[in-house]
Formats: sequence, structure tokens, C-alpha cells
Amino acid sequence: MKILGISGSPRKDDTSGVSKLVKTVLENTGGDWELISLRGKQISGCIACLGCVKDNVCKVKDDLAPLRDKIVEADAFVIGSPNYYSTVNALTHAFMERWFQFRHQTGRTLWGKLAVSVGVGGTDGAAPAEQLEKFFMYNFIENVATVKGQGAASCFTCGFGETCQVGIPNMLHGPGVKITDNIIPDVEKQADVMAAAADAGKLLGKRLSQGHDRTAVAQAVQEKMMAMFGQTV
Ligand SMILES: Cc1cc2nc3c(=O)[nH]c(=O)nc-3n(C[C@H](O)[C@H](O)[C@H](O)COP(=O)(O)O)c2cc1C
Repeated sequence: MKILGISGSPRKDDTSGVSKLVKTVLENTGGDWELISLRGKQISGCIACLGCVKDNVCKVKDDLAPLRDKIVEADAFVIGSPNYYSTVNALTHAFMERWFQFRHQTGRTLWGKLAVSVGVGGTDGAAPAEQLEKFFMYNFIENVATVKGQGAASCFTCGFGETCQVGIPNMLHGPGVKITDNIIPDVEKQADVMAAAADAGKLLGKRLSQGHDRTAVAQAVQEKMMAMFGQTV
């Protein structure tokens, strides 16, 4: 079983809360996994050219193209995004949009696969995690677990964090905040979050090792999606 991990953070792996959590999930699956960071990659959003409708292959030539085979070959995905303005960041969204190439005719390339969603924010990671849950649903992929953590907003290290009136340190700790290592959020300091990431990996590994009927999984996801749309009509 192959599991593809994606970190949508532009930060280096050792400073990114998203990368740390995605890696922790992957390490706990017991499976064959690969973690790819989107950092530095040039990935355009979908340009709606419809060049993919006949063969499910995107015709835009950029850094997403070499990832296509890895997406197709994976049995499961662990995708993480930072919280930028209460949603996924642009890099992750561009990556997500390009999965439109798989969503034509049979859709069998992706449907019935399994996934874990990961979100990290300076206050919390719920918003991007929920976006990713929906993204998986729209691709008929079952989200088996979601992990949300608090990372370090850039304001803790920008150099102005103690005096900036609109910075996150001021908002979280009040005026006159002194920035010390122990107040800088890091997912590795959050035992409950790290445990949730480990549990998510174990659950994903268990589901994959049990084998799953991809058609049945896709049908169940579709029913959930239709129920959700039904509520909004
Ligand atoms: C442009 C930008 C917008 C952000 N907006 C939010 C936000 O709306 N809510 C939030 O909780 N954190 C926000 N953050 C903080 C990041 O989510 C936080 O730094 C997080 O740790 C990023 O994850 P990473 O360490 O994996 O890159 C923002 C950061 C940037 C750079």
C-alpha cells in the first residue's frame, strides 16, 4: 500500500507545523509512504481549459505534472495545509484545483481511496482541515481522520512581535508580551495534537491493511455528499 503525503506549507520541513504533523501521520501508518513538500514548487491553479476531459490528463506543464503519477499510484493521501485567512493557502489550493483532471467520465482514478486531512493555524487549524475534508469528499475519497494543530505565526519571529499592535503575539497574550521559546506555539509541544496525528496514522494503516471495497467506499461518500447538498438546496 502506498501513501502519498503532501505538505502545502511554504516553510522548510523543520519549521513547518503542517510538515511535522503530516510526517507523524505517515510514520504511524506502517505502510510505504512518501512525503512531498509543495514548498518552492510552481503550481498554477486550474485554468478551466477542459484539456483533461477526454483522457484525465492535465495539459498545464508545471511542477504538478511530475506529481500526477504519484497521485494515481497512491492508495491513500495525507494532505496538510496551513491556515491562511481562514482557509487553505494558495499553494495547497492550486494543488487541489488541478485534481480536476481526474474528475471526468468514470472518476475511478481516485474514488474509494482513503485520506487524512491536516490543518495548522496560528490560532487553530480547523478551517483548512475542513476545506480538505470537503475536497476529499468531492473526489469520492473517504476522510478517515482529521488532525488540527496550532503553529507559530510568523509574528513570533518577524522581529516586531513584542511591539506590533496587530500581531498574533499581542492578540494571544496582550500588550507588553515578551516573546520567549515557551510561548511560541509548536505542534510538537501539543501532546494531544501529536497523539491525534499518531492515532490518525494508525487508523489509516489499519483501514488499508484490512483492504477496502473502493466502490462501496465511493458510494458511501457520494451519499454523504448528496445529503450535504440536499441540506443547502
Ligand atoms: C498570509 C498568512 C495568513 C495567515 N492567516 C491565518 C489565519 O487566518 N488564521 C490562523 O490561525 N493563522 C493564520 N496564519 C498563521 C499560519 O497559519 C501559521 O503560521 C501556521 O503555523 C502555518 O503553518 P506552517 O508552520 O506549517 O507553515 C497566517 C499566516 C500567513 C503567512
